[in-house]
Amino acid sequence: MASARRLSYLQALLVVSLAQGIRGPLLGQASGPQPLELKEVFKVFQSQYNRSYSDSAERARRLDIFARNLARAQQLEEEDLGTAKFGVTPFSDLTEEDFGLVYGHHKSLGKAPNVSRKALPEGRGESVPSTCDWRKMADIIKPVRDQKNCKCCWAMAAASNIESLWGIRFHQSVEVSVQELLDCDRCGNGCSGGFVWDAFVTVLNNSGLASEKAYPFRGDNNAHRCQAKQHKKVAWIQDFIMLQDNEQKIAEYLATHGPITVTINMKLLQHYQKGVIRATADTCDPRQVDHSVLLVGFGKSKSRARMRAEGAQAGAPAPRPRRAISYWILKNSWGPNWGEEGYFRLHRGSNTCGITKYPLTARVDQPTKKRPVSCPP
Ligand SMILES: *[C@@H]1O[C@H](CO)[C@@H](O)[C@H](O)[C@H]1NC(C)=O
Ligand SMILES: *[C@@H]1O[C@H](CO)[C@@H](O)[C@H](O)[C@H]1NC(C)=O
Ligand SMILES: *[C@@H]1O[C@H](CO)[C@@H](O)[C@H](O)[C@H]1NC(C)=O
Repeated sequence: MASARRLSYLQALLVVSLAQGIRGPLLGQASGPQPLELKEVFKVFQSQYNRSYSDSAERARRLDIFARNLARAQQLEEEDLGTAKFGVTPFSDLTEEDFGLVYGHHKSLGKAPNVSRKALPEGRGESVPSTCDWRKMADIIKPVRDQKNCKCCWAMAAASNIESLWGIRFHQSVEVSVQELLDCDRCGNGCSGGFVWDAFVTVLNNSGLASEKAYPFRGDNNAHRCQAKQHKKVAWIQDFIMLQDNEQKIAEYLATHGPITVTINMKLLQHYQKGVIRATADTCDPRQVDHSVLLVGFGKSKSRARMRAEGAQAGAPAPRPRRAISYWILKNSWGPNWGEEGYFRLHRGSNTCGITKYPLTARVDQPTKKRPVSCPP
């Protein structure tokens, strides 16, 4: 962790020098002189995230991208209306395009299957609690997964949804197999991308899902034979539903049933470190969703004024909203060293990054007779 501390210290130094006006030369030609701090920060970044480059030209190119990304992160932090911190992340040497290619969905976007949106019964008198965090219930939310170079966020979000609902409903701790979802997938494209509903179709077609332990994640891009029949099933689903695109309804469902999947625009996550992201439609287009994650809860942060009083924001210069900020808590699939120990938060109440576009969840149940399934149209 010493290197992480050093990295954040150096980054702070760099941000100060950026603020003092070296932004111009920093963004200049890669061949031009680079400020000392930048090279230093880049070196620490390389060692922290084990990055090596084929030759010095490639290293210079990555250093240039890194510099642009840090400047971009600083700009994002200035624009953000929430409390998010942006800066050095494991993805700081990637261009926005590289990042989208490696971590986004591959399939064309905007085509949801004909899954009707589910209106919840009204007037059950259940008001939405002010906070909800399924991580606080023991053994419901399993450890954060790491998709590595496999574009399988859709399968990981589906697996996390199923296992948490299974735990809540049947009080049985399970971790389900993502690899089975990839190997047996006939609707999506395995490690090349897919949608959450593709995973649910596979679970229905396979009449359940094996455990992660029995059928472990390999995360390579080779197509493997579906080994569903060789393994005992540990969880089943009855069907899956799309919730209404309404954040209040989503909160109500989440609080009463458990975590659900959502698909968001992941663009800002490349630079995200911590805090609540509060973007606008300009900084994070809610129509361009390309990354599926698990929504595990919601809450409210302390107001800025209170944070200042407690000294947490000592010396923070930027003017910030004073009112408490409502947020969603989301579980990502980029390992526990990304973001807030693998999680991140988005502002709740403004359709941040398209969070209401595809609120999809399985409904778990004991095994029933197999029904015919087909890929969503
Ligand atoms: C670091 O990366 C190299 C190749 O890029 C790899 O062989 C090595 O196993 C990695 N080490 C760690 C600790 O991840
Ligand atoms: C979607 O499904 C409903 C019934 O489930 C049907 O009435 C409607 O025509 C379908 N829409 C499309 C575009 O297939
Ligand atoms: C369902 O599974 C069978 C093999 O058991 C496979 O041939 C078929 O393509 C699968 N269909 C879907 C929609 O996954």
